[in-house]
Amino acid sequence: MASPKFQNPKGMPDILPENWEYFKKILNVTEKIANFYQFERIETPILEDENLFIKGIGIATDIVHKEMFSFRTKGGDRLTLRPEGTAPVVRAYFQHGFQELSQPVKLWYFGPFFRYERPQAGRQREFWQFGFEILGETNPALDVQIIQIFLKIFEELKIKNLVLKINSIGDNFCRPYYKKALVSFFRSKIAGMCQDCKRRIKENPLRILDCKNEKCRQIISRAPQILDYLCENCKEHFKKVLETLEYLKIPFQLDPFLVRGLDYYTKTVFEIETKEDIGALAGGGRYDLLGKLIGKKELPAVGGAAGVERIVEIMKRENILPSKKRIPKIFLAQIGDLAKKESLKLLEEFRKNKIQVLESIGKDSLKSQLRFAEKFKIRYVLILGQKEALEKKIILKDMKTGKQKLIPFKRLIQKLKKLK
Ligand code: HAM
Repeated sequence: MASPKFQNPKGMPDILPENWEYFKKILNVTEKIANFYQFERIETPILEDENLFIKGIGIATDIVHKEMFSFRTKGGDRLTLRPEGTAPVVRAYFQHGFQELSQPVKLWYFGPFFRYERPQAGRQREFWQFGFEILGETNPALDVQIIQIFLKIFEELKIKNLVLKINSIGDNFCRPYYKKALVSFFRSKIAGMCQDCKRRIKENPLRILDCKNEKCRQIISRAPQILDYLCENCKEHFKKVLETLEYLKIPFQLDPFLVRGLDYYTKTVFEIETKEDIGALAGGGRYDLLGKLIGKKELPAVGGAAGVERIVEIMKRENILPSKKRIPKIFLAQIGDLAKKESLKLLEEFRKNKIQVLESIGKDSLKSQLRFAEKFKIRYVLILGQKEALEKKIILKDMKTGKQKLIPFKRLIQKLKKLK
């Protein structure tokens, strides 16, 4: 078969009905947990001022450097398809005066994001994330609460073999010393490292630690570790986070080279992975600097986001099914013009009374309609012909016993509600 002329853009897949069942399940679990922990939903626009991301995520990050979909509008503004949700949430926090509310402000979101990446397993150009942000407080217990929320969601979705990786990347006081130590360590070795690392040593030396190149990884394994450079404040914060995780018996792996791909992080950073090779399911951390970067105001905050398609992929690989679609036990068949019109009316009555009914209103022949009901093994069939429609009555047939009754419209809802 020749492929159709128009296809979806590369890396931006359709979410087909079969996949939406998984999305729906993930959304339901996320919403339930968000409600329990008193997070309120926020949805920011798909497009934002390009500078929000340049300032917030950092000009030297891969996201801003290579992965943004940016364009000029007819009015001359530079807009970007949002590559992530944290900078927009902080923008909204300031714009709507959320500093005046009682703190912390707890927000969550669930929607599509865009990054111009090379499409591959677990990496798309349009992908969905859900995220949780706690804004306005510094307490390390909140860092743990965010981690706990993601782990609980994955647990509710029955995803196993999760690995929590955690690190502290310090703050504006201690990180410069660490960066200096890194640069002096890598300077003598950079000639043998990849092109990206050569750029990173000048622009963003911390990101070298995240390089996946095998040759670079060998060198990185001997690099100085940030934990030896943390100031007292960051050390104390991280100690409390780890102690709390231990207290809650949440297993974790300290990963001294976990730095994350966004510049706004301070102190705690984390990622949650499975053993599958599709990258992290979720990532996040504290971002006490972001408020200053985009709102010129202090705003301690912590949060995280998870990739919906990656979760769906894991659910499929582990044979975790979303809840089964419930097939209604009643089918409505109709013959003739008047019956069709009356059927449209009846369906509305059924909807109002929360009675699930399957129909095939586009079909005319009774035989093909009944075949449809048979296919779904439906026990009760309502048949509305011209004569019945005129008399405002309908036939109810029990396909199991073969018995049938004529029921006036007036008594129909009552009768259907009693069916077993
Ligand atoms: P991130 O690590 O860039 O963090 O993305 C979070 C998650 O989104 C990843 O762990 C992954 O599951 C998914 N993801 C990212 N890029 C792609 C892609 N190209 N295709 C499919 N899935 C992807 C953030 O975005 C931060 N805003 C998280 C955060 C919230 N930090 C604090 N608050």
